[in-house]
Amino acid sequence: MDSDIVIETRNLTKVYRDFWGREKVRALKALDLQIRRGEIFGLLGPNGSGKTTTLKLILGLIFPTSGEVLVFGQDAREVSKNERIGYLPEESYLYRFLTAEETLDFYGRLFNMPAMLRRQRAAELIEMVELGWAKRRQLREYSKGMTRRIGLAQALINDPELLLLDEPTTGLDPMGTRWMKDFLLKLRDQGKTIVMCSHQLEDVEDVCDRIGILHQGELKELGRVSELLKIRDRTEIQCSGLSPEAEREVCATIERLGGKVHFCGNPTTTLEELFVRIIRESEAHPGRRVRGVVESQPSGPAQGGSELASRQPVPSAPKVFSSVSGSAGEVSVAGAAGNLVGDPPQPGVSGPSAGQGDLDR
Ligand SMILES: Nc1ncnc2c1ncn2[C@@H]1O[C@H](COP(=O)(O)OP(=O)(O)OP(=O)(O)O)[C@@H](O)[C@H]1O
Ligand SMILES: [Mg+2]
Repeated sequence: MDSDIVIETRNLTKVYRDFWGREKVRALKALDLQIRRGEIFGLLGPNGSGKTTTLKLILGLIFPTSGEVLVFGQDAREVSKNERIGYLPEESYLYRFLTAEETLDFYGRLFNMPAMLRRQRAAELIEMVELGWAKRRQLREYSKGMTRRIGLAQALINDPELLLLDEPTTGLDPMGTRWMKDFLLKLRDQGKTIVMCSHQLEDVEDVCDRIGILHQGELKELGRVSELLKIRDRTEIQCSGLSPEAEREVCATIERLGGKVHFCGNPTTTLEELFVRIIRESEAHPGRRVRGVVESQPSGPAQGGSELASRQPVPSAPKVFSSVSGSAGEVSVAGAAGNLVGDPPQPGVSGPSAGQGDLDR
């Protein structure tokens, strides 16, 4: 097996049976999947489509009916490989009467970590998940978001190479969600491999390199998020600093060249971006906030230094122009002074933020 492939499933099938051994549910059907080192892979699908079943098979908590799962080149039933895996289950299973420190110490013992190392690692992780202020409180007093954070810290206690996260952003508020996504990107940058299941599609879109979509136990789609979401018959250009006359001229040129302008105006940011910015501003400047000025303010890294924010293709001067189609495809042109965001447009290829300015309005 290629050493860059961390997980490989071959014809993986799981049938849950009832007490008498009769087939109850065919939860996973002939899944073939390869997950590579250092990627964030998202497993999507409706309720009951087999996501958690797949994670449990990878962990060796349940066994395949047919087919196989290899993790680090070993059969998933090999328990020793779990020392290199961290797992965040979809339901919290933490002991409610332990504090954060005691919880991490407990899980450190399960991995036979020496006392010194356990204490050091627990302290580091509690800081990492920003729970230092609550580390001596029992988990029964934790909110949902705090519980998710300590769950993630528990999954990291053994400094795993591979993380399996079942709905990591469930129960988190938008600030917590942003924190979790930035945290996952940092872990990936440290070289960890992450497999996550989620129903929060925008979270998956923000952090995952590749996704697989399951439906009734069958893999229906697989690929890079950037490729799967590309609108191939449109092109989008984002620029800043154009005068209204110049905008009109650009649109006229597009029409003259046989293209069709679908939209010309300012691009919108995301609701998450807006929410995070308002909360950060409110924290920095407590008191009454003057509303209604947000639209003209720049967003992104300058406001909060978030890794995700720097991935968002929101221009600093918010002025979008148009979406254009011609014989070679469609183009969306966003405007303000010749300052292109992303790669130059190519015929038939949509830009980095296709979908922001390409509505037919
Ligand atoms: N222990 C079990 N015994 C019998 N059937 C099960 C068992 N666990 C899961 N199933 C069934 O297997 C199918 C897949 O379940 P699974 O938990 O993998 O779905 P999921 O994609 O994680 O769904 P969700 O989004 O709701 O978490 C479902 O039909 C479920 O009812
Ligand atoms: Mg599930």
